Amino acid sequence: MDPLLARSVQTENGAKTEGVVVDAELAAAIMSRRILQSVIAMEAWEGYTFAEHQIQIKEAHDLYGAVMWPSAIVLCYFLDTHRDTYNLLDKNVIELGAGTGLVSVVTSLLGAKVTSTDLPEVLSNLQYNVLRNTRGHCRHTPHVTELSWGKELEQRFPQATCHYDYVLAADVVYCHPYLVELLDTFDHLCQDGTEILWAMRFRLDRENQFVERFQTRFHLEELYDLPSLSIKLYRASRKEIGRKSRSGEAA
Ligand SMILES: C[S@@+](CC[C@H](N)C(=O)[O-])C[C@H]1O[C@@H](n2cnc3c(N)ncnc32)[C@H](O)[C@@H]1O
Repeated sequence: MDPLLARSVQTENGAKTEGVVVDAELAAAIMSRRILQSVIAMEAWEGYTFAEHQIQIKEAHDLYGAVMWPSAIVLCYFLDTHRDTYNLLDKNVIELGAGTGLVSVVTSLLGAKVTSTDLPEVLSNLQYNVLRNTRGHCRHTPHVTELSWGKELEQRFPQATCHYDYVLAADVVYCHPYLVELLDTFDHLCQDGTEILWAMRFRLDRENQFVERFQTRFHLEELYDLPSLSIKLYRASRKEIGRKSRSGEAA
């Protein structure tokens, strides 16, 4: 287990809180997985070390979804350092808003069967990064496909056949108009036994209220609190799974 996570932390009122991590030390450990930017064959890339691999991620600066965001590094660090409690071998994993694909790459390298999703305009860069970093290194070839939040969920991801062990998401809550659709998408993809691992970057109040709305449908537990990065990592599972609403009818 991550020694930083295992440590109890003295809180302001003197009580001890299990599972809360030391922010500065942990943030530094997470960010140390970045490799200095380099240029290979005239191509700019960002480098990271996870799952015993050096991963090269190409960004496309003209697209919001084609830039690396620190929440993804936080989620990758957690998965890489908690392989005993979150064993991804042969697990079905779907990532929402995968962007440049770092989380999908790391989960594939850790042995999962990964479906990596995003908007159509992001998919070609995503596919490029996922394939270049996983080809020949993974038990299961990751699948990159469109998932626009709230759209054609049951047609494209039928609940009868699509059962995910993990739904992963990094920095998917910000000032976009699809927060309701995002919540419905989490809802649709979660069945009995599905766990959500979600890294949330805190910015504005309106977006932050999403956490409260999320908690009306999901049990939420904080795994990391990193004030220096304005990021929290959550684990979540669906409440009242037996009575969940179907796609398009979500509350
Ligand atoms: C801030 S970026 C985070 C990207 C990546 N997860 C990371 O942490 O580096 C938000 C991602 O959500 C995707 N996104 C935004 N709106 C979406 C929607 N309506 N449906 C699906 N994906 C969406 C964007 O294309 C982008 O990849």
